Amino acid sequence: MTMLALRQHADTLPLQPARDFATDVHEGLRGWPKAIPSKYFYDDEGSRLFEKICELPEYYPTRTELKLLQDNAPAIAEIIGPDVELIEFGAGAARKVRLLLDALIRPRAYLPIDISGPHLTAAVKALAADYPHIAVKPVPGDYTAPLRLPQPQKGAARRVCFFPGSTIGNFTPEEAHSFLRHAARMLSNDAKQGGLTSPGGLLIGVDLVKSPDILHAAYNDSAGVTAAFNLNLLHRINRELGGDFKVDRFAHYAFYQPHLRRVEMHLVSLAAQTVRIGEASYEFSEGESIHTENSYKYTLAGFRYMAEQAGFRPSAVWCDPDRLFSLHWLTLA
Ligand code: AVI
Repeated sequence: MTMLALRQHADTLPLQPARDFATDVHEGLRGWPKAIPSKYFYDDEGSRLFEKICELPEYYPTRTELKLLQDNAPAIAEIIGPDVELIEFGAGAARKVRLLLDALIRPRAYLPIDISGPHLTAAVKALAADYPHIAVKPVPGDYTAPLRLPQPQKGAARRVCFFPGSTIGNFTPEEAHSFLRHAARMLSNDAKQGGLTSPGGLLIGVDLVKSPDILHAAYNDSAGVTAAFNLNLLHRINRELGGDFKVDRFAHYAFYQPHLRRVEMHLVSLAAQTVRIGEASYEFSEGESIHTENSYKYTLAGFRYMAEQAGFRPSAVWCDPDRLFSLHWLTLA
């Protein structure tokens, strides 16, 4: 699961050269307000906690998107068409990919792109065994940056990217726009160079603007799993960077900010304190926060507009009856 940082021009690639955890943590804690990119949540423990979040009664996105995929699989397969190569951005959504692969007509290949080697190996191993008729070609790397993908196979008609889970919500709107533009360019180059007969497409899950109460509950679950997920970032800094955070002196704080249509997650210092990380030390005043995540929510029209501005033609969209979550099919003109 990879988040990105802004480059100077939203029209070129969004994306930053790979930076490491230590650099981003020190830079983020030196700045004001203090902030650490949310991509660093996902060490082994963070990934385990995120999987638990996905099962929580309050966290509606995962089950709603799964149901959307389940209920609409035949329609999705029909609109996507036969003989596709499926590219997944990130390789963490095995259940969702399987639903799609099961429904698609003669899928030719599955290309998961993930920065984490273990994630990729696990995703590929199980899938290759269960789908022997599909060429499974893992692509290690950062899907937000230009990547060389294997050439399309003979007989493949189109390439389709799959980006479930509303991970796009963890990008700023500028980053999201740049990411979509990057995906559109990649798909269009592949279609031209690979001799594909149909233009590329993107199937993407997007969380929707809704009642602040529902959002508040989703990021403040009663079992405290989201709090543990957020606080694990401090444990991770202690483990990997020699930090001495006293984790119980920080509190998980998440709220919906309606002006910006985003849920913000913070870690709030419960006291005035000094924290050391390696040779460096950082002062916290009581109540000062480390901003750890934004999770943007979109309206259907707002997301379609952004996709269009980025070079896609918004086509079908599937939504649950309560309008909690959406699945968009975007094609290239
Ligand atoms: C991965 N991402 C879409 C999740 C979200 O809802 O923004 C991460 C998350 N943060 C707290 N709970 C879940």
